[in-house]
Amino acid sequence: MNKFPKNFLWGASTSAYQIEGCVEEGGKVTSTMDLYGDKPSYPKGITGFKEASQHYKYWKTDVEMMAKMGLKSYRFSISWPRIIKDKNGSVNQEGIKYYNDLIDELLKYNIEPIVTMFHFDIPLFVMKDGGVHDKNFVKHFELYSEVLLKHFGSKINYWLTINELNILVMMADGFEILEKQDLSKQLKVLHNLNLAQAKAIIKCKEICPSAKIGPAPNIATVYSDTCKPEDYTAKLNIEMIRNWVYLDAVCKGKYSNIFIKFVKKMGVDFEVTKDDLDTLAKGKPDFIAFNYYTTMTAQMPTEESIKENKEKFDQQKGLVVPGFGMATKNPNLQKTEFGWEIDPVGFKNTLREVYDRYDLPVMITENGIGARDELTKDGKIHDDYRIYYYKQHIRQLAEAISDGVEVIGYMPWSAIDLVSTHEGISKRYGFIYVNRDEFDLKDMKRIEKDSYYWYKNLIEVNGENI
Ligand code: BG6
Repeated sequence: MNKFPKNFLWGASTSAYQIEGCVEEGGKVTSTMDLYGDKPSYPKGITGFKEASQHYKYWKTDVEMMAKMGLKSYRFSISWPRIIKDKNGSVNQEGIKYYNDLIDELLKYNIEPIVTMFHFDIPLFVMKDGGVHDKNFVKHFELYSEVLLKHFGSKINYWLTINELNILVMMADGFEILEKQDLSKQLKVLHNLNLAQAKAIIKCKEICPSAKIGPAPNIATVYSDTCKPEDYTAKLNIEMIRNWVYLDAVCKGKYSNIFIKFVKKMGVDFEVTKDDLDTLAKGKPDFIAFNYYTTMTAQMPTEESIKENKEKFDQQKGLVVPGFGMATKNPNLQKTEFGWEIDPVGFKNTLREVYDRYDLPVMITENGIGARDELTKDGKIHDDYRIYYYKQHIRQLAEAISDGVEVIGYMPWSAIDLVSTHEGISKRYGFIYVNRDEFDLKDMKRIEKDSYYWYKNLIEVNGENI
């Protein structure tokens, strides 16, 4: 029996603000992420996003290398601030041309372009017009999605709406969306993003009826720390606010009763009108894409355990809600050198849970290991730890498929080295090395890592050698 379907979309992923650089070129307007690296709150000693991997300049070389790796698909994001110039929705033709050329180049090599409409980079004019917690946001995003669908729709079969909507809400301060964590505003962000996403899905069905569109959250199975009933309650609570609220909104068109009650108990207003529910109900996806790095383990926190908890909050760890649930360490798992737990079996379980809950085909749009890769004197990168990580995860992917999960494709993070969301360029993910350091841009040369050749071989035999 074949482990993977015949037309399985083996691929790789990136996002615009993390690879493109050249932020002043091509008529691009300023985005939140351009300024992020200059903020006093940004971690010291690591680069921001203004130069990144200069993919805006080297895109042809990069696509050629991806083609030589045998990629069947490439998931990238279009930069909103390269497409829309101002709050009236004026379109930047240079931006349109850039992505049209990129898409054509991918198609030339038979690489399926999989487009994320929005991956963390918000034009400043949107922020000045009220920001993400303001209703104007929905209008801006709907207009932007319409421009994308009209200009690129004839060439794109798979659209992704918003990258990691759940992480944007949970880390709203980190992504420059809110000045500080504020539950009332975060709920507005959550609802606006859900409405914006639904509007984009509705537009897609109108303008590109034969294309498929789905959300792309970051999903992680949540374990109960012990079999104490209270810890199991914490597991249910954490998975609700980390995973299911977001997928319920887009796939079921509603928020769960338990979530609504939770918000009320926190003493916060959460206004959802009848019209909003109609919009959510109409904006149902064709598939679910999700990013998977690791699982989470939850316990019911005590005052003491909260005090003792030193974990910094990011996409994968450090989540604490007093009286409700707290993420804790899983002693059964090893960690990457950047402290994220590695859980390949959790990957299979997450795939099964998502598929079972929503009954839609799934696509993996991120999975990978961040590491301090070393360029050796003879110009090689021996990233055997990355090959090992992928082997373990792809085996579990094959098992999930054999268990009955319908999987469209696998697009690990990342196609080429790029700047991490909060840990600089030294935390590398790519199959292709980019020769630059945190602040020394060197020659930006692209070099194939060992994992590049390993992945190429795997794709050649459609994963049968795993
Ligand atoms: C996901 C994001 O959260 O994880 C990516 O969609 C990000 O943008 C990736 O780069 C890895 O996280 P990090 O923080 O190591 O860059």
